[in-house]
Parts: sequence; C-alpha cells; structure tokens
Amino acid sequence: MQFTVAIDGPAAAGKGTVSKAVATHFGFAYLDTGLLYRAVGARVLDGADAIEAAQSLNAKEIDGSQLRTAEVAEAASKAAAMPEVRAALVEFQRGFAKRQGGAVLDGRDIGTVICPDASVKLFVTASAEVRAKRRFLELSEKESSVDFEQVLADVKARDERDASRDAAPLVAADDAVVIDTSELTIKEAVSAAVSAIEAKL
Ligand code: C5P
Repeated sequence: MQFTVAIDGPAAAGKGTVSKAVATHFGFAYLDTGLLYRAVGARVLDGADAIEAAQSLNAKEIDGSQLRTAEVAEAASKAAAMPEVRAALVEFQRGFAKRQGGAVLDGRDIGTVICPDASVKLFVTASAEVRAKRRFLELSEKESSVDFEQVLADVKARDERDASRDAAPLVAADDAVVIDTSELTIKEAVSAAVSAIEAKL
C-alpha cells in the first residue's frame, strides 16, 4: 500500500511528536526532513559550501543526535532558503514518500512541494509564545543559562525567514487540515491527527 502523510508547520509546534506518534500508530515509516537541512547546516558551520554539502549528502547516514542545537537550526534555515540546496534534497524525500507500507514526512514544504498529491496533509501550528515556551523548556534541560526572550526572538526570526523566502516558503497547503496545538495536550494533538488520517484511509 502506498499512503503518504505530509505534515508541515513552524518550529516547535509539535510536528515531530505528532509525526512520530502517528507513524507508530499506523505502522508507517517516518522521515524528519528537517534533519536533512540540519545536516547541511552543520556542514556549513564546519566550513563547507551549502550547495556542495546538500549535493553530496548521504541522507541515510545522518546522525540526528548532534543536530538539535539552536546554532545548527539557524544555519539550516539559512541554507534552506537556497533553491539549489532544496533541489538537491527533493529526490530522496520523494523516494521515501513512495515506499510501500505508508510514510509520514514532516517539514515545511511537504504538502506544497515535495508531495502535492499526499494522501493526507496536516499543518501543525501553535502561537509563537507557546512554541518558544516549549523550546525553552527543552533547551533548559540541556543548558543552564537559557534566556526565554532570546528563544522567543530566535523562534520568530526562523519563522520569518522560513515563511518569507521565495523557495518553497512555509505555508499551509490549501487542502491541509490545520491542527493548532497551542491549547492541546500531546494526546489531544495526536488524536486529532489520527482522526484526520483515518478519514482518508
Ligand atoms: O524542522 P526543523 O526545525 O528541524 O528544521 C530546521 C530548518 O530546516 C527549518 O527552520 C527550515 O528552514 C528548514 N526546513 C525546510 N524544509 C523542510 C524541513 C526543514 O526548509 N522540509
């Protein structure tokens, strides 16, 4: 069975959590496409050229454990604004989406550019303040001196860059089901996503 779930939305809206949960629920494979851009961003921080890094990326060998820092996210979002970087990552993502047995992909442009014919499209979002608070709590577990105002400013700056770029800007597809998680628990957000998917199965 080929069944593709496209999940897009801004940073820290709960996309990853919802995506992993629905992939497990339905037994679908899961791809966090942000990791592809983060891997490119990390290479740029090491001095590489963004386009060359994207073109030579071996997506199957990405180790996400080193890539979830604010610095890498910032470099990823800058590299992600370059059309050549995005173009180099398209084929891998489309190949993943077509695998048998169902696939969930999360990112910024899955429902609009990568899989415009996805079986289900979800746009998972939340207010900037709620998202910054979640990111703040997450970062506070790893670092001691995290400043909320700084985290909020970073979240807003990354949203602004992702939404205003010419190449595949962050926007909900016309046929996406919008799930605003600002006032939802994880369980409620997951169950909204499961219902939307079940309606199309
Ligand atoms: O989702 P995550 O925060 O890991 O993504 C990091 C950055 O990669 C985003 O801010 C965005 O600029 C970029 N990205 C993208 N398209 C995707 C996934 C991520 O442009 N499909």
